[in-house]
Amino acid sequence: MGSECSALIVFGVTGDLVRNEVFASLYELARVDRLDIAVIGVGRSDWTSETLRRTAETAIRAHAADDLVDAALRTVIERLSYVRGDYTSPDLYETLAKVVVDHELVLCYLAVPPTVFPAVVRGLADTEIRLRARLLIEKPFGSDLESARQLSALIDETFDEHQLFAVDHYLQKESLQNLLVLRFANRVLEPVWNNEHIDSVSIVMAEQFGIEGRAGFFDSNGNLRDVVQNHVLQVVAALAMEPPASALPEEVSGRRAMVLGDVQSLAFGDVVFGQYDGYLDVDGVQPGSTTDTFVRAELRINNDRWAGVAWHVAAGKGLAATKSEIVITFKVASAPMFNAQDCVPEPNRLCISMAPTELATLTLQARSSTAPLGTAKTALESADSYRPDERVDAYTRIFDDARRGDHTQFASRAEVEACWRVVNDVVHRAAPPVVYARGTWGPELSDKRDW
Ligand code: BG6
Repeated sequence: MGSECSALIVFGVTGDLVRNEVFASLYELARVDRLDIAVIGVGRSDWTSETLRRTAETAIRAHAADDLVDAALRTVIERLSYVRGDYTSPDLYETLAKVVVDHELVLCYLAVPPTVFPAVVRGLADTEIRLRARLLIEKPFGSDLESARQLSALIDETFDEHQLFAVDHYLQKESLQNLLVLRFANRVLEPVWNNEHIDSVSIVMAEQFGIEGRAGFFDSNGNLRDVVQNHVLQVVAALAMEPPASALPEEVSGRRAMVLGDVQSLAFGDVVFGQYDGYLDVDGVQPGSTTDTFVRAELRINNDRWAGVAWHVAAGKGLAATKSEIVITFKVASAPMFNAQDCVPEPNRLCISMAPTELATLTLQARSSTAPLGTAKTALESADSYRPDERVDAYTRIFDDARRGDHTQFASRAEVEACWRVVNDVVHRAAPPVVYARGTWGPELSDKRDW
């Protein structure tokens, strides 16, 4: 932990990420009286502070709907100001240095495309802001393993590791924290949480919406870089890692990095890339673009706990529904008493819904009347029981934690690089993706609702 930042510079303030997530998070911080910070938005567009304030107000009103707290909205608006500039021009950073001259610690949030990160890092490094900056860097951190390493090396030239906060907002999600409690606070699970008892794991991150409004970012990244390399692999890490010896950030992150290091690198034969029909007509998408909006892959984890278990992961846009779900399928019970019967028990499944609801359901076999030892499925449900007003949205937590210098829920560089290593052999792809119809479950899965 460190001292608190008193200024936040948001690079890329005119972009959709800020409109969709950041304004609402600043408002949420203001609502709980924790936005004691000046917010300087930076962009290339010809905006003024007034334009920024109006955009923020619209976003906050849409987020808060009928529950708007006027005072919190005013707090955000009063703190906002805008600086226009070219990210490659030293003038921009000189101007910013003057704007934040009275602030001892400055949180610099890079909500720009990954290709622009190096320019901003260099620009900051050339001013004295570098001495009192925390760099909050959005994902994807680079566009492959090599560029991630180059970005790290560039940061290392000027900044200490403790100044870097690499964002993967899945790490800040309540639903990801739930997984750790489910796994490590239930003693009955640990003895069966391995290849002796688990047959396969499937992780699905399905999104019904497409990429309208954010083609500029998405078309040069695709779903593999946008969500699989980071969010999906972090869910894998939470499910597969060894129990941390303590809750210290370096311990938890070390365990995640360790298991990510055991994930076998993907080869083209393990992955299906898809693109939804109509993607090429979206405003801002390059003609003939082969960017993936869907990825399905089979992962293997080469360690004692997981050897032989298939990890099916799928993530896509323009699909039939928006839901994030994990299904852990156990091996079928092998009691000899069922051998002579006509009914083989079904495998137990632990289904963990991460969104839109948070719910864990364990299916068990119970006796049915179809045969003397007939079985039927029954279920045990566990919903998380903290109150809605105690929930903190991922981006609100990101700003609050980074502002206070708490690294706990940020990705370490070891994790980021381990994630890139997993996808690096398939990230540069020549073959076009398989086209799938919108509103289905992606290529080859159009009729299958149950992934
Ligand atoms: C973002 C991706 O990081 O995560 C988006 O850029 C994706 O493409 C989003 O839709 C999903 O996050 P959440 O919090 O809505 O599950």
